[in-house]
Amino acid sequence: MTAYTNKNHNNGLCKLYFNKPLANVIVIGAQWGDEGKGKITDLLSRSADVVVRSQGGVNAGHTVVVAGQTFKLHLIPSGILYPETECIVGSGTVIDPQVLIEEIEQLKALNVSVDNLFISQTAHVTMPYHRSIDMASEERRGDYKIGTTGRGIGPTYADKSERTGIRVLDLMDSDLLKEKLEWTINYKNVILDKLYNLPPLDPAVVITEYLAYADYLRPHVVDSSLQIYQAVQAKKNILFEGAQGTLLDLDHGTYPYVTSSNPIAGGSCVGAGVGPTIIDRVIGVAKAYTTRVGEGPFPTELSEEVGEILGDRGAEFGTTTGRRRRCGWFDAVIGRYAVRINGLDCVAVTKLDVLDTLEEIKVCVAYEVDGETRHHFPSNAVDFASCKPVYKTLPGWQQDTTNCQKLEDLPAKALSYLKFLAELMEVPIAIVSLGPSRDQTIIVEDPIHGPKRALLDADGTPVVAGS
Ligand code: GDP
Ligand code: IMO
Ligand code: MG
Repeated sequence: MTAYTNKNHNNGLCKLYFNKPLANVIVIGAQWGDEGKGKITDLLSRSADVVVRSQGGVNAGHTVVVAGQTFKLHLIPSGILYPETECIVGSGTVIDPQVLIEEIEQLKALNVSVDNLFISQTAHVTMPYHRSIDMASEERRGDYKIGTTGRGIGPTYADKSERTGIRVLDLMDSDLLKEKLEWTINYKNVILDKLYNLPPLDPAVVITEYLAYADYLRPHVVDSSLQIYQAVQAKKNILFEGAQGTLLDLDHGTYPYVTSSNPIAGGSCVGAGVGPTIIDRVIGVAKAYTTRVGEGPFPTELSEEVGEILGDRGAEFGTTTGRRRRCGWFDAVIGRYAVRINGLDCVAVTKLDVLDTLEEIKVCVAYEVDGETRHHFPSNAVDFASCKPVYKTLPGWQQDTTNCQKLEDLPAKALSYLKFLAELMEVPIAIVSLGPSRDQTIIVEDPIHGPKRALLDADGTPVVAGS
């Protein structure tokens, strides 16, 4: 691994971190999810020893395309395709064992080894009543529905907060599991019956089902925080793979149209059980336009022809649910917000090729609310719903970019578009993705070992890294 010194502390007291020959990197979604985190994680995993998923569950769908073969991962870190890479499903995730086992079996069928897969014993477990309650409560919400993936994510995290959750370590102890599940299922049956008019669950059936899952998963279960800490001590390179995206964050996203975890960079530390001092880099992944699945406001949404072009060219269908993703222009207010909330060092811009045929391309540079121009993302959901995008129109390049290998190969107008996004977001672009496969990528600047933070022009303007 390349030696990399990031923490240039000149204070002798910081000796521990001085000359630390590793880079620990967080990769997060900078929009509403599906930005191409799977592709970027897979790419960066080449130099990672450990890849960790810190939050979310099987609501995530991360696509990795290798040698024409498509892998769709929900809970297993995208580093799994490298047999030497330790892949850890961390403490802050929620685990649906049925779906996880299916995912493991699918990988095995494709000759991908899962010997390097580890599961946190303190992660919470999705139970059948979580899935039922998720779907029934969405139906009950009617016009106020969130448009969840229906995978029981919200109810599993709700039980975690309410302190009635079942954790992986409970699964590993059959007596404890029986005791906990008998109580919990009787409690949940009241809710299923009285609130949702659904049939009760039989505790004995659920216990038998989950004990079988426990036997299957047992060899993978570990104390994940300790395992990650030991990797830190061994100076291994660790990549924290975000799920969902900044605007789906429970605290900082477009509440209530969010998921129930913290997909922002800070959430990676909490979910993995590491301190923020071990993190060297935070990389945001953003599409060259915007998409969103589920309900909630979306200022740059395009309902007419261009939206359909983006949806069709970008194959914008949910990896997990198959739902058509809503499409819109790039929103730089969101981009700047993602830089702020996550402390992004650089951005990977994906799916630039999807814009190849367009005559002109709009970018939202600010919002207008009641005749006032706003440059910052509003923390008030009501304000956000009334934001009208202020657009700048750029000329399209109308050329195929899918085979471009370096910045110089890009049409000048495509490069201008990227530079414009970098300036607006106030962050350098280190990676440009021009297709789903590994080789359809321009590494502008090594995002891990290259210079940190914004690269600036002489006049102080952030530029596309390396250009
Ligand atoms: P994730 O959830 O952030 O990992 O993203 P998804 O996998 O849900 O969705 C991204 C989709 O875009 C997948 O089908 C990827 O194969 C695909 N993709 C990723 N990067 C590119 C790109 O640069 N161009 C095109 N055309 N497709 C891409
Ligand atoms: P990846 O990791 C896009 C959305 C759902 C819904 C909201 C709440 O592939 O980027 P939930 O089931 O989490 O309670 O749903 O969050 N959502 C995602 N949208 N990509 C995802 O994951 C998502 N995970 C959840 O569509 O709007
Ligand atoms: Mg996805």
